[in-house]
Amino acid sequence: MHIFGRPGRLLAFAVVVALVAVLQAQNPAGQRGGATASARKKLLVLGDTHTGYTHDSIGHALAVIDKLGRDSGVYDTYIRTDSQWITKRDVAAPARNARNLNYFDAVFLFISGEGDWTDQQKQDFVSFVKDDGKGVVGAHTGNGAFYEWPEFGEMMGGYFDNHPWGIWEGTVVVEAPEFPAMRHFPRTFKMTEEYYVLRDKPYSREKVRVLAHVDTSGLDLTRPDYHRKDADMPVALARTYGKGRTFWSNFGHAADTWDNPDIQKMYLEAIKWAMGLTPGDATPSAQSGTELPAGDGRDVVVAACSGCHGLSTVTEARRTRTSWEDVVDEMTGLGAKIDGDAAKEKAIGYLRRWFGRVNVNIAPANDLQEIGGFTPSEAAAVVRYRTRRGDMHTLDDLKKVPGLDLAALERRKERIAFTGQ
Ligand code: HEC
Repeated sequence: MHIFGRPGRLLAFAVVVALVAVLQAQNPAGQRGGATASARKKLLVLGDTHTGYTHDSIGHALAVIDKLGRDSGVYDTYIRTDSQWITKRDVAAPARNARNLNYFDAVFLFISGEGDWTDQQKQDFVSFVKDDGKGVVGAHTGNGAFYEWPEFGEMMGGYFDNHPWGIWEGTVVVEAPEFPAMRHFPRTFKMTEEYYVLRDKPYSREKVRVLAHVDTSGLDLTRPDYHRKDADMPVALARTYGKGRTFWSNFGHAADTWDNPDIQKMYLEAIKWAMGLTPGDATPSAQSGTELPAGDGRDVVVAACSGCHGLSTVTEARRTRTSWEDVVDEMTGLGAKIDGDAAKEKAIGYLRRWFGRVNVNIAPANDLQEIGGFTPSEAAAVVRYRTRRGDMHTLDDLKKVPGLDLAALERRKERIAFTGQ
């Protein structure tokens, strides 16, 4: 198991050696049961919903979070449904054996409503993340709280607005497949959930990294209770806040969701990441074009195309020149900002070069090479063949062109189009 991040590993090793020595000294009989427990991180789990909506799944959710910590050996869980320990000060009597935020490495929130925290508690909670470099993981209504305390929404990366479509089976698109809490998911998957729309502010892809979103195509985005205009419905997001880290995911409306091993793994990995135990890039989506290959026009595409959906939406399918032109026009109509015709040509050129398809019946030889991946002699053979024999309609037609490397062609067939596609 990978518990410690790279920079901390030596130090962590020294700490473990020292701990084991201390425990063995206290425990001359050589019983080692206590060693791992002491090395575990501490997670404060809050299920305070006394001023808001209580999901029926909450008891099970918090129990699952506890079990994930125990089974993995990563953390010990303290569940509270009040806010007494949200403080950096000593908790006053008559409470005994009380802890405060200083004791914890991360806080897990399945809360809702405005709560009853004092201003001092709010300050301490922000400082826990911002100054102390600790973490917060929110589940479902974990961002449906503290609307009157704007820094909370800022820190969590957004506020819950509503769920106009209720509970439905959506297609989830993973935008950050290398992120620890996403790595185990397929690039797209179906999931039934009460999908949330976030409030217009402060959520922004300029500030958070969207790890996954639900596909909004097919939804009626003109209905009046849908308040956003950009069709963006993140279902998992991460951000750095000061020295610390926050994560929120939509998943968790139904108790059964918490039995889904993929969802469990997502939250376990999110907690580890929030605790600083594992690396994970939270560069805001709008600034990170890491999914896109370097090349002329990349900056135009990153700037114009990552504002609403992830860049993975852009690169999902290869397209022909006309199809890219249509998409760019459609997106400009929806509000994508591309400054002038030169920039537009650059964007289309880039999209064609890296995510293009060539129509083998009309593409010039250099496009066949650059976009279709043909060698110069293959490209020349394709042009000769089509000039003599007319249009090809299927891959099998194309395979009749003499001198093509058929195995290589098979591997890059998604780069090839025929007339009418
Ligand atoms: C103002 C918000 C916005 C911006 C900016 C934006 N898009 Fe979109 N995009 C959308 C919406 C909304 C949809 C879903 C529309 C639909 O499914 O009909 C979408 C869907 C898509 C799709 C999938 C379409 C399909 O038919 O499957 C592609 C590809 C795409 N966008 C590419 C781009 C590119 C390229 C850019 C940059 C030039 C861009 N988008 C910028 C809002 C935007």
